[in-house]
Amino acid sequence: MAIQWFPGHMHAARKQVAETMAKVDVVIEIVDARLPWSSTNPMIENLRKHRQRPALKILNKQDLADPKLSRVWYDWFKSQSGVEALLLGEDNKKAAATRISQLCSQLAPHRTGVEKPLRAMILGIPNVGKSTLMNHLAKRRIANVADTPGVTKSQQRIELPGGTILYDTPGLMWPKVEIEECGYRLALAGSIGTNAYDQVDVAWFAIETLCERYPQALLDRYGALDLDKPVEELFAAIARRRGAMLSGGRVDEQKTAELILTDFRSGTLGRITLETPDDIREPLPEEIEMEGDEEMAAE
Ligand code: G4P
Repeated sequence: MAIQWFPGHMHAARKQVAETMAKVDVVIEIVDARLPWSSTNPMIENLRKHRQRPALKILNKQDLADPKLSRVWYDWFKSQSGVEALLLGEDNKKAAATRISQLCSQLAPHRTGVEKPLRAMILGIPNVGKSTLMNHLAKRRIANVADTPGVTKSQQRIELPGGTILYDTPGLMWPKVEIEECGYRLALAGSIGTNAYDQVDVAWFAIETLCERYPQALLDRYGALDLDKPVEELFAAIARRRGAMLSGGRVDEQKTAELILTDFRSGTLGRITLETPDDIREPLPEEIEMEGDEEMAAE
C-alpha cells in the first residue's frame, strides 16, 4: 500500500524541525509502542544523526501494547548509540516530567543550570500522543488534542522540572511511507488520515496480522473462527457475528472494517504490538522514491 499523505503545513514543519534541531541538545521522539519501528520518522532519524544529537525515544501508549514486546523494544532502543528510552502510557504519565528531564540530563550532562539550560525538542508522527503528553507536562491545555492526524500546528515551549526547556513541533509525517507493511500498521493505528487508505484493506491486514501474531485475541473477541480460512471469509464471519450485515445477507464492508479498526485502536482486542525489532528492514528498490531523506539531512 503506497500512501501519499502530505498536507501542506508539513512541508513547513520539516524545515522548522531542521532549524529547531540545530538549536537543541536532545531530540525527543515519541513513537507508538504498538509499532515502534513504523512510527519512527526516518526523516527525524536522518536529521538527528546528521546533527549528532542524542535521542530520547518515548514509547507511548504502552497500555495498549504487548508488555513483553514493549520490554524487547525498550532494550533494543537503549542498545542504540546515544539513545535512551522511556515507556509511557495512560497509567504512568504522572512521573513523565521528572523522568524525561532526568533522561535528557543523562544524554546531555554538560547542559545544566540557568546559564546553560538543557534544550530539548519533542516530535513525533501524528496520533502518537504528543499533544496529550505536552498538555500533561505543561499542566494545562496548550495544544489541540484530537483524533485527526496533523492537528497540532504551531510551535510551543514549556519548562520541565530541573529547568529543561522543551520545544514542541507540529505533527510530522514523511511524504511517502515507503515500506508497505509500515503503511498498513500506521493506518491501523490511526496515524494516517482516513482519506489516504481503504479501511477494508487495512481491516484485512489487521485480520492477517492477528492470525499470525495474536490468534487468541481474534477468537476471544469474535468467537470461534476457523483461522485457516482465507481472510475474506474471516472478515465475513466477523461481520455476521457483529451484526454488520446489509439486506439480502450481504456484508456491510465499511461497517465491519470500522468495527475491526476501532476494536484494535481502543485496545478491545487486547494489548497488541504489530512488529518486533526482527521485522526491521530496508525498503526494497521498488519501494524507494527518488526524493530521499539524505537530501533532507543536508537542509
Ligand atoms: P498527537 O498530538 O500525537 O497527534 O496525538 P494526541 O495527543 O492527539 O493523541 C491521539 C489519541 O491518542 C488521543 O485519543 C489520546 O487520548 C490518545 N492517547 C495519547 N496518549 C495515550 C496513551 O498513553 N495511551 C492511550 N491508550 N491513549 C493515548 P482520542 O481518542 O483522539 O482522544 P480522547 O478520546 O482521549 O479525548
